[in-house]
Amino acid sequence: MRKIFVMTLALVLALASCSFADVKIGAGIYRFNDAFMLRFRNAMTAESGKLGATIEIADGRDDQPTQDAQIDGFLSGDVNVLIVNLVDRMAAQSVVDKAKSANIPVVFINREPSLEVLNTYSKAYYVGAKAEESGVFSGQLIADYFKSHPEADKNHDGKLQFVLLRGQNGHQDMILRSKYSVETIRDAGIEPVELAGAIANWDKLEAMKIMNAFIMSIGPENIEAVIANNDEMALGAVEALKAQDYNAGNPEMYIPVVGVDGNASALEAMDKGEMLGTVLQDAENQGAAAVRLALALAEGRDVNTIGYPITDGKYIWIPYQKITRGEKQ
Ligand code: GAL
Ligand code: CA
Repeated sequence: MRKIFVMTLALVLALASCSFADVKIGAGIYRFNDAFMLRFRNAMTAESGKLGATIEIADGRDDQPTQDAQIDGFLSGDVNVLIVNLVDRMAAQSVVDKAKSANIPVVFINREPSLEVLNTYSKAYYVGAKAEESGVFSGQLIADYFKSHPEADKNHDGKLQFVLLRGQNGHQDMILRSKYSVETIRDAGIEPVELAGAIANWDKLEAMKIMNAFIMSIGPENIEAVIANNDEMALGAVEALKAQDYNAGNPEMYIPVVGVDGNASALEAMDKGEMLGTVLQDAENQGAAAVRLALALAEGRDVNTIGYPITDGKYIWIPYQKITRGEKQ
């Protein structure tokens, strides 16, 4: 047993240290100015460096035509494989078509194309996390809090009056996190009542302004929870609340706020008691998996040997984790 283990270990180490010096990855990110995608970029750069491959990463500046031009540039240049975080998920087919006619593999990340699109090219894959799972976890964070804190039902009606901050329109994470967070609260036996909701595009400043408007129109004393589709928007809401002396230490003036991503800034806010919790999205493993898959595809190696399981022939799913006060659950 021990010998087999040592031999397997030696093999794994040999594989891990084999260099991809001749492989160049061309990666398109929907926009550099995004806290979660910054973690993702860093993870991809680190993994490429570790494996000796080259990666060039382009900033799509939240504009699909800009990203299309960058992808055209990669395809007519010397890249062996693409990693694409689409600006617009609906552009997936045209990216797949281009990659296919150039016979360059493409790994989509973070913005999930439909299976129909992925199925049009044998070298098209998706690496990400299940949006539904993050929605369920954020609903559980709120439901657990509500059940263990009777005072959280401020108007004593047995229902949960909340406001919802949504991410970008059309993003699977916006649609499914919104849907499943609320459904999970209902499944826990608490009737959710949406007082207000708005799209804040994953953005802290936009969320802060929207939350300010909600506070003015609804009154903070009438809001029993803030559900945000990501941490940046949760932190924007926290800023708006703190300006009204909410979530600033006085237990009488507290509204539970939850986000998604597990960014360092959110963990800090949780440690200070400003935010209730978040759902860790594992950018580090998503980034490493995307790079390893891309390199295997570029070299025509078996994609089942990269250390991350492939599901349904097309997907690598990295799990989410619930976090409250810095504790993983
Ligand atoms: C989500 C993430 C957001 C934002 C978005 C970009 O998965 O939670 O914070 O980064 O992706 O597409
Ligand atoms: Ca209530």
